[in-house]
Amino acid sequence: MSQRSGTPRRLAAVLPLLAVLALASGCGLVGWDWDTKMTTVIPKSDFGKMTHEIFMLISWTTLIIFIAVEGGLLYACWRFREKPGAPIPKQIHGHTPLEIGWTVAFAVILLIIAIPGIRIIFKTQEAPAATALRVDVAGRQWWWEFKYPGLDITTANEVHLPVGQTIAFHLNAPDVIHSFWIPQLGGKRDVVPHRVNRIVLTPDTPGEYIGQCAEYCGVSHANMRFRAIVHAKADWEAWVAAQKAPPVEPQDPLAQQGREVFSQSACVGCHTIQGLSAGVLGPNLTHFGSRKTFAGGLMASTRETLVRWVENPDHMKPGALMPNLGIRGEQSQALAAYLLSLK
Ligand code: CUA
Repeated sequence: MSQRSGTPRRLAAVLPLLAVLALASGCGLVGWDWDTKMTTVIPKSDFGKMTHEIFMLISWTTLIIFIAVEGGLLYACWRFREKPGAPIPKQIHGHTPLEIGWTVAFAVILLIIAIPGIRIIFKTQEAPAATALRVDVAGRQWWWEFKYPGLDITTANEVHLPVGQTIAFHLNAPDVIHSFWIPQLGGKRDVVPHRVNRIVLTPDTPGEYIGQCAEYCGVSHANMRFRAIVHAKADWEAWVAAQKAPPVEPQDPLAQQGREVFSQSACVGCHTIQGLSAGVLGPNLTHFGSRKTFAGGLMASTRETLVRWVENPDHMKPGALMPNLGIRGEQSQALAAYLLSLK
């Protein structure tokens, strides 16, 4: 008798420990700032919500199956455990009703998962409405270019979107395969050379959401990030107006000197600054100073990081296609001041 009561007693001792562990991890999660993280479990668009819905359906279904199977296993182990002097339990081989039962049960479970799953696959492939805002996305080694053909705006690594508006991203890769993914807004979808893929979504909450290339594309794949900034309507209109305006003329003497450095160096061959140059290999810098980050969303746009970048791009982003032009000292300080002045 004393042998048999040992197991429940041990279980009773472990349960409070498990409860404390669960509580502690819960507290950790509460303190976690989800909004700055790459998460799919706090979706902020219709697309994100649809995929989250199917994820939760599958998670709950499999949790119920797990509990039923493991519960049955534990019960059988306990109920039919070896006891001194007890006879061997009844041996069975084949049980037709049981076999039909679990075949039907699993077919039903698969249907429960498949029907909404297939519905959402088709829904997330639908053509966009004519009123959708089109954004052409180019995934490049290793940064993102965003063009708004209807608005005549080109930017890089930060895509601005109006809340509540359906966005049709047209995805293309001028070099190798990438994958477009903004975990909280939806995705991911491959960005493939010689092909235009599409992802249509409607962001529902203003905020800043992190994006990341999700397909290995070379040495700086992990450094190919971006940000989606979803604006309330008035903020969006202000952003559009600012981007459509020509770049401001630098007032500060150092920035004026930086403008000279830019226009007299090889920068002009790859970068566009409206009214000054028309390169297309690198990001359009017309409103560089309005962006919080640069180099594939990798670094904050500050004088210090920009100087380091200009002087040694490959050191900051391995494999960076931007060459080291030998711009140093006061010249790189001036260039950084000029770029930051381009609001
Ligand atoms: Cu682009 Cu990975």
